[in-house]
Amino acid sequence: MRVILAPMEGVADAPMRALLTSVGGYDLVVSEFIRVVDQLLPEKVFFRLCAELKYQCHTPTGTPVRLQLLGQHPNWMAENALRAIELGSHGVDINYGCPAPMVNRSNGGAALLKEPETIYQVTKAVREAVPQNKPVSAKIRLGWDDKSRCIEIAQAIESAGATELTVHARTKEEAYRPPAHWQYISKIKQHTKLPIIANGEVWSREDYLKCQQASGCDDVMLGRGALTVPNLAHVVRGQQQAMSWPEVKALLVHYSDFEIVSEKQKYYPARIKQWLRFISRHYPEAEQLFLQVRVLKDTDQILSLLQES
Ligand SMILES: Cc1cc2nc3c(=O)[nH]c(=O)nc-3n(C[C@H](O)[C@H](O)[C@H](O)COP(=O)(O)O)c2cc1C
Repeated sequence: MRVILAPMEGVADAPMRALLTSVGGYDLVVSEFIRVVDQLLPEKVFFRLCAELKYQCHTPTGTPVRLQLLGQHPNWMAENALRAIELGSHGVDINYGCPAPMVNRSNGGAALLKEPETIYQVTKAVREAVPQNKPVSAKIRLGWDDKSRCIEIAQAIESAGATELTVHARTKEEAYRPPAHWQYISKIKQHTKLPIIANGEVWSREDYLKCQQASGCDDVMLGRGALTVPNLAHVVRGQQQAMSWPEVKALLVHYSDFEIVSEKQKYYPARIKQWLRFISRHYPEAEQLFLQVRVLKDTDQILSLLQES
């Protein structure tokens, strides 16, 4: 069984990836997406979205990071994929699931689920550009507004030569609304030989076991649940119970130490509030803390509140 930390743009940035992988249990991390339109992006864009490239593309505790690209033009995707590899990424992941209207309007992300032929062309071009010993993976949803083409989409990715596929078991239309339709992953599995990673609505060991049963997949990618229960990777493996609140609070302080010295320190107040909202889903104490932190804008005030409470 492999446990992979999901790409989460604007949330799972390098400091968060460092923190969650330091808690442990992850085999791989996928970076936030880099948007490819019509050029070979400068190296600084890669380093901005994937700071781990400076460290052989591992988090500080040694978990490999795979860079994710999002785009619809096969040639530009191929060129940028090669650059990602040259900069040290452990393979390339292609995003065919992003529901952001701005991205979809220009035919990127989940919009491509309506065009399996383009998915094939993009994946094939990336596969041909990336050395064979480096994985090229893709991440899809089940479709745009219905699930009827999910097998066709997966087969397009398989015949383009991808190494593996993550399936977020919802359509774009279903956004993030529960449930995740894990049984469709099983249908995909029956019609392709690709290794499949299941994704969507895994918040606990029980969810993992249900997902495994319905999808037939042992490998799982954890998204929002990983932010909510910071040791979820160990929890789904059946190795630990969810962390206690004092342990989570110590992590919040530790995360603050990371963030306020990072290049993104000006975002710290917004980031910590955002994370507290995720944590509140499992820990009622975080809700109280969120209400207190919500009105604060100053980093030092927030930090002392976290340390005191
Ligand atoms: C804030 C946020 C940002 C996300 N950014 C990305 C992204 O950059 N690339 C991607 O493939 N998926 C992205 N996703 C989707 C997640 O990787 C994952 O597929 C989704 O959250 C479902 O898993 P979950 O139910 O475990 O959260 C994002 C999700 C969230 C909530």
